[in-house]
Amino acid sequence: MTNEPSPMALANPPFSDERPDQEQVLLMLAGKWVSGVLHVAARLGIADLLAEGPRTADDLAAATGAHGRTLYRFLRAAAAVGVFAERPDGRFELTPRAEYLRSDVPGSLRNLAYFYGETTVWNCWGHVMDTVRTGEAVGPKLRGGKTWFQYLEQDAPEFAEVFHRSMTALNDARAPRIADSFDFGRFPVVADIGGGQGQLLSAILRRHPSVRGILYDIPTAIKGARELLEREGVSERTHCEEGSFFESVPSGADAYVLKAIMHDWSDAECEGILRRVHQAMNGRPGARLLIIDGVLPELNEWHYSKLMDIAMLVNDKGAERTATEWQRLLEASGFELVTIHPTAPPHGIVEGRPV
Ligand SMILES: C[S@@+](CC[C@H](N)C(=O)[O-])C[C@H]1O[C@@H](n2cnc3c(N)ncnc32)[C@H](O)[C@@H]1O
Repeated sequence: MTNEPSPMALANPPFSDERPDQEQVLLMLAGKWVSGVLHVAARLGIADLLAEGPRTADDLAAATGAHGRTLYRFLRAAAAVGVFAERPDGRFELTPRAEYLRSDVPGSLRNLAYFYGETTVWNCWGHVMDTVRTGEAVGPKLRGGKTWFQYLEQDAPEFAEVFHRSMTALNDARAPRIADSFDFGRFPVVADIGGGQGQLLSAILRRHPSVRGILYDIPTAIKGARELLEREGVSERTHCEEGSFFESVPSGADAYVLKAIMHDWSDAECEGILRRVHQAMNGRPGARLLIIDGVLPELNEWHYSKLMDIAMLVNDKGAERTATEWQRLLEASGFELVTIHPTAPPHGIVEGRPV
């Protein structure tokens, strides 16, 4: 397996012009089936079970409480897209792609595959016509009126752990590249707002030994953060705080990082969060807002976040944004856009300063 995902992987379109157009559309339509198959494999922990060596579907079914012949069919489908391989002796084995469904590898996608198939996340796609007709998200209707994060916090704390770990694993490769791509060292204190389990903040602090950090998130995220910060050797330079960015944001930082936060929310909600950040800055000289999120290119250019935009929309009325939309959002919230820096795909760093 490759040790980490290619930095350009998301910058290249998934479909090439080498296949006939009808065939490509057919394969696009099968995307949901592939996602469902990978969800099952991730949820059952198949890749972890195969880490010790090849096993039959019956053997794997006995170990996971699945139905043997049916699990065989799921694994055969996964093998057809190169995730696992079926050997002539009837046993399945890991492939380089299947390695990413293991729990214990850098850049593991196991928890993400689990999360994408979680019932309320998955069921949103059965109601996309409602969203396109009304402009409203489906997710809250499937979760008794709760946003995704309220649901995690109040109804599904064990699943919250899966979600936060999935975000941390995505950062395994991205966080060091983000830390290298921008001079965070000029800020004595960096706050990561909605910083999850602290993977990005750790990478920034490791890269800049003089910088101190504030990690701010909801309780289920902070719970998993302390161990990570300790392991990364930055816990003594990090202050962890639980709270909601809709109510307040910790003061005392020179840079306020919000990575993959704004895309979860509507413009109105984002303005609320950014106004809290503005208040926290409280006129501090040189303070900066650093939003790390997708920056959608105009017209037809491929960008992974153009697809993520729909996932965010159906789940909680979130949105990915173009440079023009970022500028408008910042100006509506008391900031001006300084510039947008390139960083690890699929994100850019939108730098703003309070006005
Ligand atoms: C998509 S995740 C991104 C996490 C992390 N910044 C990253 O890039 O991996 C969104 C984060 O926002 C946090 N969050 C959601 N609602 C929040 C709130 N009201 N206050 C503070 N953090 C919140 C979540 O717990 C989660 O860690």
